[in-house]
Amino acid sequence: MAIDTIGLVGTGAMGSGIIEVASKAEVAVVAYDINAAAIEAGKARVEGSLDKAVARGKLDETGRDQAATKITWTTDLADMRGCQLAIEAAPEILDLKLDIFKQLDGILPEGAIMATNTSSIPIIDIAMGTNRPEQVCGMHFFNPATVMRLVEVISTQRTDAAVAQAAAGFASDVLGKRVVHCKDRAGFVVNALLVPFLCQAIAMFETGHASAEDIDEAMKLGAGHPMGPLALCDMIGLDVMLWTAESLYDEYNERFLAPPPLLRRMVSAGHLGRKTGKGFYDY
Ligand code: CAA
Repeated sequence: MAIDTIGLVGTGAMGSGIIEVASKAEVAVVAYDINAAAIEAGKARVEGSLDKAVARGKLDETGRDQAATKITWTTDLADMRGCQLAIEAAPEILDLKLDIFKQLDGILPEGAIMATNTSSIPIIDIAMGTNRPEQVCGMHFFNPATVMRLVEVISTQRTDAAVAQAAAGFASDVLGKRVVHCKDRAGFVVNALLVPFLCQAIAMFETGHASAEDIDEAMKLGAGHPMGPLALCDMIGLDVMLWTAESLYDEYNERFLAPPPLLRRMVSAGHLGRKTGKGFYDY
């Protein structure tokens, strides 16, 4: 089935990035969120980023305006009835995702692909809440989705190989991303390697071994990373970091994967990084 119309469930940081990427690729996007305020926030994020792309010379004004016309903003999930692919980028709460997938199951046409952008929930647990688990796979984008070139396509025990291939083909041929395929294991490829490193940086900061600025500067200048680990945690969101670290610890039970206490305390304190204006740095 050719994919020319997709649904995006959730217009937060990741959802709005994926909406923008797809709309720039001339894909019609039905962008859903739960209420008008969430839609307005998502729309402002996409429009702001499209303007930034124009300012950076990545897009001309015509391209920006055309991209904007490809997006239909809605608070009614049933508007996805014509979508050949739906990507869910809702908060990392299993019951919420199960509810969304159950609804999508009743809305999407036969043969449609149901993908989740989850970083921390086993995809099989989401898939088994539908009547078509063979149509469910992971499509994991990276933050910021407009800039990061990778998409991980994740197959569960029940994913039809043709579905994973179609999702990968869409990500690469239409969205212009590089795809890696992997199994439904906590962290997939990138987070399984990246998150333990980021947690080690938090633990190092917590012990007072070095300042946040020096840890970040060290990894930028000494290891060639585009941004330091603590700044990256702030960008990812410390709540997302905690969920992802917990999923790795739950899966493998290795002590070194346990989230550092400071990460838990910062999340409890509402210091989630850039999105709340405070994390390891102030914004
Ligand atoms: N639209 C299009 N292009 C844009 C853009 C936009 N809105 N905003 C920026 N860009 C482009 C810029 O033009 C620039 O392109 P060139 O290099 O071709 O000139 C490039 O993106 C970099 O932009 P900036 O100069 O503004 O910013 P920077 O150089 O400081 O880089 C960064 C910012 C891309 C975030 C970089 O620091 C980086 O790559 N950091 C690491 C990000 C990372 O690791 N992300 C993954 C997190 S893990 C995750 O997401 C998974 C999970 O589940 C937790």
